[in-house]
Amino acid sequence: MREVYYVVNQLLGCPPAANYPLDFMTLTLRSTLFMIFALLSACQSSTTNSSQSTGGVSGAIPIGIAVAQTSNVALLGQEQVAGAKIAEKYFNDNGGVNGTPIRLVFQDTAGDEAGAINAFQTLITKDKVVGIVGPTLSQQAFGADPIADRAKVPVLAPSNTAKGIPQIGNFIARVSAPVAVVAPNAVKAALKINPQIKRVAVLFAQNDAFSKSETETFQQTVKDQNLELVTVQKFQTTDTDFQTQATSTLNLKPDLVIISGLAADGGNLVRQLRELGYKGLIIGGNGLNTSNVFSVCKALCDGVLIAQAYSPEQTGGVNKAFREAYQTQFKKEPPQFSAQAFTAVQVYVEALKAVDKQTKVAQKSLPELRAALNQTLLKGQYESPIGTISFTPEGEIVQKEFYVAQIKMDASGNNGKFAFLK
Ligand code: ALA
Repeated sequence: MREVYYVVNQLLGCPPAANYPLDFMTLTLRSTLFMIFALLSACQSSTTNSSQSTGGVSGAIPIGIAVAQTSNVALLGQEQVAGAKIAEKYFNDNGGVNGTPIRLVFQDTAGDEAGAINAFQTLITKDKVVGIVGPTLSQQAFGADPIADRAKVPVLAPSNTAKGIPQIGNFIARVSAPVAVVAPNAVKAALKINPQIKRVAVLFAQNDAFSKSETETFQQTVKDQNLELVTVQKFQTTDTDFQTQATSTLNLKPDLVIISGLAADGGNLVRQLRELGYKGLIIGGNGLNTSNVFSVCKALCDGVLIAQAYSPEQTGGVNKAFREAYQTQFKKEPPQFSAQAFTAVQVYVEALKAVDKQTKVAQKSLPELRAALNQTLLKGQYESPIGTISFTPEGEIVQKEFYVAQIKMDASGNNGKFAFLK
């Protein structure tokens, strides 16, 4: 008690009580003050450390976009960049997140897993984004998504359609409907155009996770429709010469050919099948779903059927504004990859608005904000360009409307479009 009295006196600048031996009092004072300072500095350093590592978001809210801006995969990725940028402008023009703008931070993943992992790591640790839109390929997602999941950073896949993407972890969801629900629509459309189809050849890129997943769905659909699967041919996404596979396929006289690959290889395969004389219907999978294949197969792209998870004619939600903005900039109808990237940004913006209404975004630490954003986005319903969408608790998209389009090329082979089938 006396010691406490003495310390308080000292702190208040009072003289020591006369009846205390000085040495004893000095010792007690020193050790007590040391403890107080030690506690204060420990407390201060823990506060400093925690605010350095978990500091909240101030200013525009950073959202990471990790898609392929280079490599062959940029044939898809550049459409995603376009969709995301239109979304950034649109939502910021409309008040952002309850008055705070968003800021997209782009990191190029190029076309492989290593590029996606690098981009994700930079976005998470250096750019300190609240969530990531990306990567372009499922093949890349299986490499990079576990890193974001472990760091508890939400990922919205804008185009990963392989089986098993949302199951990678609690922080992984997608706005790109899986092959199982999209791909069968193309086979049904082919049968509507030619009910005589019996013999089906299937080709797929064996070095690509999405292509392997999609071909399984196509092969199952062929069986479900009581069609005959006459051959399954394999290739690589890096291949440019498909003479072997195309010749083997044509020897079996199929009336339908189904290709699961990416844009450059898929376009070349279409071209070489036609050059070798194939006249029947061709279905291209989701990896060929871009007007960037037009320059690869030119006039020979004509007639290729591709299932769609987006229609520019979609009337609901923000599609009108999105379509107009895209048309103004690019003088053509928006493609599915752009619409899905726009949708992913929209989901983040609307979920951030809901989070911000509970507690201001700027008042949360970054880990708290990322966790709240992840939880909130899974509960929402969104009137997006790809229709009214929501998510299962696991992060799988719930989407109702799908379409099939057929490529129409003009005779020169320089201009083409996707004509939506009724
Ligand atoms: N849908 C393709 C994929 O999942 C682009 O890889």
